[in-house]
Amino acid sequence: MNNKTIRAIKGTQDILPEESIKWQSLEDEIRKISSYYGYQEIRTPAFEKTKLFSRSVGEETDIVSKEMYSWTDQGGEDLTLKPELTASVARAFIQHNLGLISPVNKLYYIDALFRRERPQKGRYRQFHQFGVEAFGSEYPEIDAEVIALAISIFKSLGLEGIKLNLNSIGSLECRKNYRIALKEYLKPHLTNLTETSQNRFNHNPLRILDTKAPNEIKILEDAPDISDYWTNEDKTHFNEVIEYLEILKIEYVLMPRLVRGLDYYTRTTFEITAPSLGAQNAICGGGRYDGLTEMLGGKPTPGIGFAAGMERILLAMKSKQFNKNKVQIYIVGLGDHTRTTVIKLAQELREQNLITEFDLLRRSLKAQLREANKMNVKYAIIIGEEELESNQLEVKNFSTGNQQKVKLSKIVEHMNSLSF
Ligand code: HAM
Repeated sequence: MNNKTIRAIKGTQDILPEESIKWQSLEDEIRKISSYYGYQEIRTPAFEKTKLFSRSVGEETDIVSKEMYSWTDQGGEDLTLKPELTASVARAFIQHNLGLISPVNKLYYIDALFRRERPQKGRYRQFHQFGVEAFGSEYPEIDAEVIALAISIFKSLGLEGIKLNLNSIGSLECRKNYRIALKEYLKPHLTNLTETSQNRFNHNPLRILDTKAPNEIKILEDAPDISDYWTNEDKTHFNEVIEYLEILKIEYVLMPRLVRGLDYYTRTTFEITAPSLGAQNAICGGGRYDGLTEMLGGKPTPGIGFAAGMERILLAMKSKQFNKNKVQIYIVGLGDHTRTTVIKLAQELREQNLITEFDLLRRSLKAQLREANKMNVKYAIIIGEEELESNQLEVKNFSTGNQQKVKLSKIVEHMNSLSF
């Protein structure tokens, strides 16, 4: 490759045919299982007004403060490539008055997102998520349903050893009180905290709980727990979520320090990890966001959802075998006069849903048969000028080696009757 060759941007990936088979099978599974749970697909634009994300995800979060691809367009509008989907889906929910059409709206998506993070295995600048957002119910049944849906998809994909980490970060009132208590506790340790945590102390102290620095983890050991600040309603809600999970036999680990990195969360928060992934082991994150629609100027509507990173899921499924769509029929054409018959027959067979290929390089009989063999086809149809004249084509079964003559007028019907 010389230095004039243009390469893909760092942190982005091409999905080549070998890989796209896996994507298709993952997407099929997501669509199938989401529909069993009554979720319908929503698609939103690739870019939005920047203020949609600063208002909902939060100015002080890593995503908004450091990672967004934002620009001012020729009309002076501040725009951003979607770094996440909950805000976009909530915007669409409000804009199209979906709450008036139905009291509960259950939506799912599969989409590409953009964050300017430091690329590494499992972390990219363009990546894909599938996720769900359910609007309209404040009750714990929907929390349990959303978690059950995520687990059910991961199980059906054959992911092993996944772990559900669960917490409740309470209502807004609880968070306000907890923030004060946490700051009080951390104040005497402030000079021992990293610069990042010192910044978070003022703007977003709960995020300090996410720290990976060993000395900070030690300091936090005796910090107050958010559960001590839950209101009675928060407590009841969370206990009911747990009861449902137990009824559904969904294992969970309580993680009192799980706060998640986006500002819109209230009450239930969760993350699902896959042990095989190393540092970037979170395959899914989600939670409740009861204040989000209001933050975006809509009517107060409770909501909950999750999003799962599809690249990470595929990494965790590495050992799984995926079936390629195999070419079923190869038409071997010999001589200039056969070309129109070949192309027409290929079209007719394809219209019968038979995966059919023919030679596009005008090669010899031997080369075409070699190609058919390489594609591992079940049948080849051989059309030479002689076959054309006698109207009898040669059908070769590659697994038995048998050869059979079939009339041109009967060939589509004949091929359709075979088993592949
Ligand atoms: P999030 O935790 O930012 O949550 O992302 C969810 C998942 O997306 C992560 O667990 C991870 O699997 C994947 N992910 C995130 N960043 C990257 C990246 N740079 N490269 C590869 N994968 C990545 C949200 O986005 C929330 N909107 C989830 C949600 C939906 N909460 C409620 N509803």
